[in-house]
Amino acid sequence: MKNINTNEITVGVVGLGLMGSSFIVSLLIAGHEVKAIAPIAEDLTTGPDRINNHLLICSRSGLLSDPIESYASRLSISEDYSLLSECDLVMECVIELPEVKKSVYNKIERIVGRQTVITSNTSAIPISHLQTYLSHPERFLGIHWAEPAYLSKFMEIICGDRTDTLYADWVYELAHCWEKEPILLRKDLRGFVANRLMYAVYREGFVLVENGQATMDDIDKAFRYDPGSWMTLMGIFRRMDFMGLKDYSETFKAVFPLLSNTGEVPAVMQQIVEENARGTQSLKGLYEYTPEEAKKWDDAFAIFTEDIHQLAAQYPSKRESISNKI
Ligand SMILES: NC(=O)c1ccc[n+]([C@@H]2O[C@H](COP(=O)([O-])OP(=O)(O)OC[C@H]3O[C@@H](n4cnc5c(N)ncnc54)[C@H](O)[C@@H]3O)[C@@H](O)[C@H]2O)c1
Repeated sequence: MKNINTNEITVGVVGLGLMGSSFIVSLLIAGHEVKAIAPIAEDLTTGPDRINNHLLICSRSGLLSDPIESYASRLSISEDYSLLSECDLVMECVIELPEVKKSVYNKIERIVGRQTVITSNTSAIPISHLQTYLSHPERFLGIHWAEPAYLSKFMEIICGDRTDTLYADWVYELAHCWEKEPILLRKDLRGFVANRLMYAVYREGFVLVENGQATMDDIDKAFRYDPGSWMTLMGIFRRMDFMGLKDYSETFKAVFPLLSNTGEVPAVMQQIVEENARGTQSLKGLYEYTPEEAKKWDDAFAIFTEDIHQLAAQYPSKRESISNKI
C-alpha cells in the first residue's frame, strides 16, 4: 500500500442514518478525524446512539485496540456544513432522492476546497447522473459501502463518466486502510457489481415461486445451505475452478436458455409494496412473523455478522495467505 496516514486525512460524512452511522465507525477505527453533518435534526440524537452501539459491538468483536472514548473523541457532529471546511474527503449518505442529494452537493461544494474528493453512497442512481449536479465533477465518485459497514469487507468504488481516475485510485488505496477488500469500477456500471449479481438471483427466485416450481422456503434453503456454505471462502469463478470446470459449459448450454430475463417487477413484490409491508420491521413481508420471531432474526443477524467477520478473518483473501488456517 502507498504511504497513507489516515490520521492526517479528515473525512466528512453527510447523513447519520443507518449507513452513515455505520461507516463513520469504520473511519474512526481506521484513525481518521471525522466531521459529520446532520441534515435533519433527528440525526443529532439517533446518530450518536447508533455510533455508540456500533462501537460497543466492535469492542466485543476485538476490533478496537483503544478505549471506545478515544474513537468517539475524533468525531464532531453539527448541522452546520462549515464543519466540513478542512475535509480532504466528504461522503454523502442521505436518502436515495436525487433532488435531496443535489442540494447536499451544493452545500458541500460551497464549503470545501477545490481538491476535496466528494463521494456518494447511492445504491442505484448512476454516478454519472449525480456528477451533473456538481460544479467540479472530476472529483466526484461513488463509494458503495456494504452493511454493516464496520464489519463487512466489501466495498465498491465507482467512477462516473467525468471522474478523474487519480481520485478514484487514491480512494481505492485508502479503502485498504479501512480493512476493506474493495473493487474499483472504472466505468459507471448501473447497479454496480454486487447488486447486479443478487438481482439476477432474486429474479430467478421469484419466477420459480410464481410458476409454482419451488416455494420461498425451498429457495431460501437452497441458497443458504449450498452457496452459503462456501461463499465466504471463495467467489463463483474460483468455485468453478475448484470444482474442476468439466461440466459447466454443458450445463450452461442446457440451463441458460431456461432462465428468466423478464423486466417485470414480480407480482408478489408489487402487492407487498402496495400493502406497505416491510418484512421483519412490520411483521409482514414475504413471510409473516410474530414479534418474538422478528426479534430473533434481528438478534441472530447481529451475532452472525460478528461471527462471520471473525471466520472470514481466518481465511485472508490473498491467495498466498489462504493457508494460514490450514
Ligand atoms: N441501508 C443500506 O443497507 C444501504 C446500503 C448501501 C447504500 N445505501 C444508500 O445509502 C444512502 C443512505 O441510506 P440509509 O440506509 O442510511 O438511509 P436512512 O433512511 O437510514 O438515512 C437517511 C438519512 O438521510 C438524511 N436525510 C433524510 N431526509 C433528508 C432531507 N430531506 N434532506 C437531507 N438529508 C436528509 C438523514 O441524514 C437521514 O438520517 C442511500 O443513498 C441508500 O441508497 C444504503
